[in-house]
Amino acid sequence: MPAWLNDRYGSATGTRQATVSTPQPGRGEVLLRIRATALNAADVRLMLGDPLLLRPMFGIRRPKQPIRGNDVAGTVVAVGEGVDASRIGEEVVVELSSGGGLAPYAIARADRLVARPDALAPEVAATLPISGGTAVQALDAAGVSRGQRVLVIGASGGVGTFVVQLAALRGAEVWATCGEPNRALVETLGATRTFDYRTTDLASLPASFDAIIEIAGSRPLRRLTRLLTPTGVVAMVGGDGGRVLGPIPRILRGLLLSIGSRRSIRMVAAVAKRDVNEQLVALVLAGRITPVIERTLPWDAAVEGLARLESGHTVGKVVVLGCE
Ligand SMILES: NC(=O)c1ccc[n+]([C@@H]2O[C@H](COP(=O)([O-])OP(=O)(O)OC[C@H]3O[C@@H](n4cnc5c(N)ncnc54)[C@H](OP(=O)(O)O)[C@@H]3O)[C@@H](O)[C@H]2O)c1
Repeated sequence: MPAWLNDRYGSATGTRQATVSTPQPGRGEVLLRIRATALNAADVRLMLGDPLLLRPMFGIRRPKQPIRGNDVAGTVVAVGEGVDASRIGEEVVVELSSGGGLAPYAIARADRLVARPDALAPEVAATLPISGGTAVQALDAAGVSRGQRVLVIGASGGVGTFVVQLAALRGAEVWATCGEPNRALVETLGATRTFDYRTTDLASLPASFDAIIEIAGSRPLRRLTRLLTPTGVVAMVGGDGGRVLGPIPRILRGLLLSIGSRRSIRMVAAVAKRDVNEQLVALVLAGRITPVIERTLPWDAAVEGLARLESGHTVGKVVVLGCE
């Protein structure tokens, strides 16, 4: 089958199309015909091999799994041992274990599959697992609930556009930072106040937040904790990290700052959760959240999609349709 390969670490322009063997499902797995793949910041990190700390696990010299794309909507076309053959033909959405979505076929774990109803388009469903799932897990980590005031730092990207909608849905008052051109969008998603991150000094905001969800930017943690209520929580989702150790030094600083303090800094390491994906599918179907999709690209334009993510300026999600 044809596939988009990143067989060397480097920027999106190094992505090439090549012919590879169609994978075979093993025990507990299914083979999916891919209908749509949503791209994530993690695809770019693995494409670049950055931070270097990742490489012992994902390939020292080159990526062990060269096909990017983890969030997919697809059709079950074959099953491995231990999976009921009646599942063939199911339309599903799922987070793959280790990429493979930028190909016509990919392997997924059967126990992670979530049914995709006809009313939910494949390109919309594919946006949910990582970005939506991370948003839910970040809000849970921060204990966000009705009546709380939440600051979302980095509200316009893949994760942020879900965080704003889901926090508002929980009844929180959402304040958010994003670029000036995206303020109107973020307000339509449910933020009551927005600030241009390039011109706003966060120190000028009142120290009134029950939770801060930090998705982009990496402000000094001590400054963020000063914006919290006495029992507030910073949930660290993403942000800039060093080339070698990535977020590790920042995570350690967060742990140290939390010692002996009623305010806490919690690291979010989101994992694939079937029940969370089912909730997200239900919320979209009910019209309670709407994934923001910046562009839906044909299969042939997958490199453009990876380059767009690499630019760091995506508004919502970028989706690549399956190979015809
Ligand atoms: N912890 C976890 O489990 C987990 C899971 C998923 C993702 N992540 C991490 O979360 C981060 C965000 O992921 P994503 O998918 O949302 O990325 P993304 O879609 O690439 O985010 C891009 C958006 O971030 C905005 N932005 C960039 N710098 C900013 C700043 N300093 N302040 C406010 N907004 C800023 C950009 O706005 P402009 O265009 O205006 O600059 C753009 O709209 C990444 O670091 C990713 O690795 C972590």
